[in-house]
Amino acid sequence: MAVTIKSEREIELMRESCRLLTIVHKEMEHAIRPGMSTHDIDALGESVIRKLGCIPNFKNYNGYPAAICVSVNDEVVHGIPSRHRILQEGDIVSLDAGLIYKGYHSDAARTHGVGEISSEAKKLIEVTRQSFFEGIKMARDGNHLHDISNAIDAYVTPFGYGIVREMVGHGIGTRLHEDPQIPNFAQKRKGIRLKAGMTLAVEPMINMGRPDVVFLDDDWTVVTEDGSLSAHYENTILITEGDPEILTLY
Ligand code: MF3
Ligand code: CO
Repeated sequence: MAVTIKSEREIELMRESCRLLTIVHKEMEHAIRPGMSTHDIDALGESVIRKLGCIPNFKNYNGYPAAICVSVNDEVVHGIPSRHRILQEGDIVSLDAGLIYKGYHSDAARTHGVGEISSEAKKLIEVTRQSFFEGIKMARDGNHLHDISNAIDAYVTPFGYGIVREMVGHGIGTRLHEDPQIPNFAQKRKGIRLKAGMTLAVEPMINMGRPDVVFLDDDWTVVTEDGSLSAHYENTILITEGDPEILTLY
């Protein structure tokens, strides 16, 4: 499928979809505390999405059973919320959420600490966040897609962390996943040329240890093979004639 260029009207709808998603993220982040279950976070996130008059785009996506992906510690992404999974002081928890507003999708992820966390965990979360910002410095009209990938890799690799290769970022718009795919690791080819009006979900997933991951039998949960912690940071962005606009920043 071709990469879509959004019209000014579509960009306004993307902006609003993404603004509403930041409300969902803020409420979930505020609620996190030891003793709550990953299901509690999902239930809160879904209720905020629906109160805003929006639709949770992850729910039933290829059979995914919840509105929010809640991934704890060595879970990389797509953790399925559970009443039995209780957050403990010192855990890190990645919340990946999206919604549909008037037909337009938004998608964003953050990793948070539960109570006090180790300085090593804090550093992993911060490097993962910063890698997104290093990547999108290259997200400019006329640059190539893989300039983003290469910048993320160049920033992360010196820390000795593992960049997940099995999952990548993506275009987004009237569908959750549009072309192009956006790898977070260095590429030999340049990739497509970036153009104003493209909306992209850039989402580095970074492991404290090796990059390898395992897909669990629940069909969804992705964990690090070596059991090390993993962090995720994602925003939906708009390519413009100048600096990229980060639509899901809060
Ligand atoms: N942010 C993830 C992605 O872009 C969330 C989708 S997972 C699913 O792929 F739950 F929707 F399946
Ligand atoms: Co995404």
